[in-house]
Amino acid sequence: MKLVVGNQKTYLNRPEVVDFINKTKNGNCENAIICASFPYLDLYLEESKYIVGAQNVSVKGNGASTGEISAEQLNSLGVSYTIVGHSERRQDNHETSDMFYDKITNLLKYDIRPIFCVGESLEQRENHVEKDIVGKQIMEVFDKLDKESIEKIIIAYEPVWAIGTGKVPTNDEIDDMTSYIKDLVQDKYEKRLLVLYGGSVNQKNIDELNQIEVVDGYLIGGASTKADEFMYIMSKCEK
Ligand code: PGA
Repeated sequence: MKLVVGNQKTYLNRPEVVDFINKTKNGNCENAIICASFPYLDLYLEESKYIVGAQNVSVKGNGASTGEISAEQLNSLGVSYTIVGHSERRQDNHETSDMFYDKITNLLKYDIRPIFCVGESLEQRENHVEKDIVGKQIMEVFDKLDKESIEKIIIAYEPVWAIGTGKVPTNDEIDDMTSYIKDLVQDKYEKRLLVLYGGSVNQKNIDELNQIEVVDGYLIGGASTKADEFMYIMSKCEK
């Protein structure tokens, strides 16, 4: 079985979310988490069978942070996972490893499991420094965490150049990076973590990707917003 995590970003408006929930109602969601936009968290929690995650959390606790959502607020809704470190937030919102550390510690205080994203740019891969980059992204955060915190984290390897582009690394490249991440965390922090792959996962490539044994599941953007396609991917990952 592979874990399927949908990252619906800001793709859907409310009627489209209602439609997605209705159309996927009869699918087997046991291995699926939907990371919804904040306004739809309640809807997913009340109307669907999905495990529900958020796409972001405040670096601070409850208090004077206009426009933010705190870990305590997410927990009080029933959210159990949250994405941290997505490349879109690294790029568009200039988020840093210090901020990811704060977000992760806030989430763990409220029993929410972080899905921590890492990945290299195309230029970094072409210069063969992808492992240095991914290793650094992990260590800058993990070095400050204790082992009990680390073991609750799920890592998502998402090469920036594969997100939303239709380009996917070869199975060997994904296998190689996933093994590198697992071994690094095992060697340095003595924990064996779940590692997901993300970046242009869709119904056409899911069979091939499923051949990579070391990968524990997927973080899926665009294809997680289309009911039929997402149902198909879930069905391919349930065994
Ligand atoms: P994509 O996005 O599946 O649309 O490439 C993945 C992600 O950003 O998590």
